[in-house]
Amino acid sequence: MAKVVLENIWKRYGDVEVVKDFNFTVHDKELVVLVGPSGCGKSTTLRMIAGLEEISEGNIYIGDRRVNDVAPKDRDIAMVFQAYALYPHWSVYENMAFALKLRKTPKEEVKSRVLNAAKILEIDHLLDRKPKALSGGQRQRVAMGRAIVRDPSVFLFDEPLSNLDAKLRVQMRVEISKLHNRLQTTIVYVTHDQVEAMTLADRIVIMNDGRIQQAGTPLDVYERPANLFVATFIGSPSMNVLKGEYDGDNLVVGGTPIEPTSEQKSRMGSYRGAITLGVRPQHVSVAEGGRNTVQARVEVVEHLGSEKFVYLKIGEQPLTARLESQDHASEGQEQFFAFDMDQAHIFDAEGQNLLLDDTEVTK
Ligand SMILES: Nc1ncnc2c1ncn2[C@@H]1O[C@H](COP(=O)(O)OP(=O)(O)OP(=O)(O)O)[C@@H](O)[C@H]1O
Ligand SMILES: [Mg+2]
Repeated sequence: MAKVVLENIWKRYGDVEVVKDFNFTVHDKELVVLVGPSGCGKSTTLRMIAGLEEISEGNIYIGDRRVNDVAPKDRDIAMVFQAYALYPHWSVYENMAFALKLRKTPKEEVKSRVLNAAKILEIDHLLDRKPKALSGGQRQRVAMGRAIVRDPSVFLFDEPLSNLDAKLRVQMRVEISKLHNRLQTTIVYVTHDQVEAMTLADRIVIMNDGRIQQAGTPLDVYERPANLFVATFIGSPSMNVLKGEYDGDNLVVGGTPIEPTSEQKSRMGSYRGAITLGVRPQHVSVAEGGRNTVQARVEVVEHLGSEKFVYLKIGEQPLTARLESQDHASEGQEQFFAFDMDQAHIFDAEGQNLLLDDTEVTK
């Protein structure tokens, strides 16, 4: 078992910087998820750990060994990709045994390792089948089985579930969690799906444009987002963001003054000027009017049974509220809404969270 250390890692293709000064340690037995929008450098980072991509600058350690110049096959890692490419003419058993046979592992050992992995993945009844006779989820398990039989120090997963339908994804997500608990091994997992990231990770690394935006436990990045990018990326439905001004007393949003809490005032200190107020949909509620409420036009109401999503406009700024099903909101009307300011976030003109100091942001 092993930790993975990425130290000042840069990746450049000519003039294009794809990964910028990536610093992070994945602890032994930890499941770390790299998440971020398409093109932000997740796969490149994973491939550099695997040795499939050269690094332009920096150091990578697996365990205590610097692996910059170590060939992929000697890094003691196993990688599972989105396109899992099983050999179609081979049985599940042969697909899983292949890497071990290549290594000239004794036949009996191959057998016991494949059986063991198949049991863990609950595909031991499918060992004689060909891939085309398997469901998508079963094929994905075989791909994982291929990695497990190699008993690596570190597993690398690159969007392994993105070919599966929504229901199967949820099921496989749970399976991967269980697998992690059972194998007690270090996993680096890439996805662009923030729900997958939140549910699987011990810690999440949120990337944008080649840089780490924030790293921390799921709860930590949800409750204490370092900046607007993280705030709006993490959480579903997304956090509302409203542009406004802070004059030292009030946050003026859409012409309406909203008073921050005294804690927030003291956190903002001498900052004045442009702000962005961040409020999650569940922290918007129906109000009667008066102080600290905003007037908004109800555009669309979506009934989901136990709750409803209400899409509003404050002037030209959109706002989503997640309300109880019995709360009143009717399409086309102007109504008052209040924000739970204790739960609100306030960002400066650069999008940095004004309510956190550097020591409170996990990196
Ligand atoms: N050989 C290359 N030459 C130039 N740019 C490249 C090359 N390979 C990748 N890139 C660029 O590097 C960036 C990061 O790519 P990467 O595959 O790591 O993204 P990703 O975060 O995994 O995205 P996705 O979620 O779409 O898989 C992209 O903008 C991509 O266009
Ligand atoms: Mg990718």
